[in-house]
Amino acid sequence: MTDDALPDGQEGLPSGLDLFAINPAFRNDPDAPLRLLRARCPVYQDESTKSLILTTYEDIRAVVNDRTLWRHPSRADTESLFHRFSPDNAGQDSQTESILFLDDPDHARVRQPLTQAFYKRASKVRGATERIVAEILDGLAGLAQVDIINDVGIPIPIFVIADILGVERERIEEFRAWSEGIILSLNAFRTVEESKTVEWARDQLRVFFLEEMQARRTQPRDDLLTDMVQLQAAGADLSDAEIAINCSALLVAGNLTTTDLIGNGVWLFLQHPDELVKLQADPALINAAVEEILRVEGPVVQTGRVASRAMEIAGRPVRQSTPISTYLRAANRDPGHFPDPDRFNITRAHAPHVSFGGGAHICIGAPLARLEAQVALAMLFARWPGMRLAQQELAWRALPGFRGLERLIVDLP
Ligand code: HEM
Repeated sequence: MTDDALPDGQEGLPSGLDLFAINPAFRNDPDAPLRLLRARCPVYQDESTKSLILTTYEDIRAVVNDRTLWRHPSRADTESLFHRFSPDNAGQDSQTESILFLDDPDHARVRQPLTQAFYKRASKVRGATERIVAEILDGLAGLAQVDIINDVGIPIPIFVIADILGVERERIEEFRAWSEGIILSLNAFRTVEESKTVEWARDQLRVFFLEEMQARRTQPRDDLLTDMVQLQAAGADLSDAEIAINCSALLVAGNLTTTDLIGNGVWLFLQHPDELVKLQADPALINAAVEEILRVEGPVVQTGRVASRAMEIAGRPVRQSTPISTYLRAANRDPGHFPDPDRFNITRAHAPHVSFGGGAHICIGAPLARLEAQVALAMLFARWPGMRLAQQELAWRALPGFRGLERLIVDLP
């Protein structure tokens, strides 16, 4: 749409299609267009995506916390970009039958047992996480240069979730290949080749989880797959296929996001040596530091809901079935909520970000992601206090909706 055709007051504003990392200008500077929208049109009816785009903390928090709103793309206006992610359109590649996109009553039915089992596991995994991170860092001993993304950020979440699920050591390399394959499904702009990899990984994971669940029924073990089959046997209304698809959803939702939290954290600290000095002087600041990384460079830029009824947002009428795009990054940098919002400051007073969303769909993996990033960053900077950014052209990933680096090369003195 040309500026001339825009409703009054919307001239000069970015189009919704420009607010994705596939657009080089957006991935190089996502904050400029979001700042403009927040200042000029915080409830923005975008014609290019046929969705409502929100950019203030208050509106976004209210929308993600509203448990009456929908999530499944098939509920969105058929004209909208979000509707294209419906299973009918997205075919087999769709993730939409996993918990990420279900609506009630199915969402509550599946989420309740999954969270019950997952939270218990996440609360017991600190020792394993410390061991896994230490082993990965041991493997880098003696190197002068490493890629934080590839060498540290990618393996950590894969090995930790493998430990939680109960993947045996001898299958870990296969599991890693499937995990790396299935997260390609996050990219709606993937190549034909990548789509084939996604399908292969999805099939392999499904067969693997179904077989492992069957084995746990006769030989229970101390892992999440055993918990899930035991909950099912005790009456949780979950099919085997639902357990399998939601175990895969843990990989899709949890691996790259945690990789990026670690990568973004290292990058922020190396860009802000004063903040690193604070952390090194007081290692107990690590928890606050991870929250500040989540706020300033959260790995998920945007989530959304669909209006389940005619409603109002900030006094503006919204029709039923309108997709509502909530830019979590814009909320986290809203000057109306955070003083000096663009500044990375690990001793900032209470700053509750929205990087894990909210309400019915709030991220299940938040405690695990926090733990992994806290352990990884603390160990990295303790082992290599003089770590420095190497000469490189920094490239942010072109993955819509996400924020992370393609690679992050550092010198290890
Ligand atoms: C820093 C890392 C992570 C970030 C920033 C993140 C962020 C998010 C966000 C924004 C949502 C959508 C929330 C909403 O729409 O309100 C979400 C959902 C979800 N996340 Fe995470 N996540 C992270 C790590 C993880 C991990 C480690 C796991 C699991 C191992 C995980 C599992 C999930 C699941 C299953 C959902 C869907 C929940 C539902 O729809 O009910 N995430 N996450």
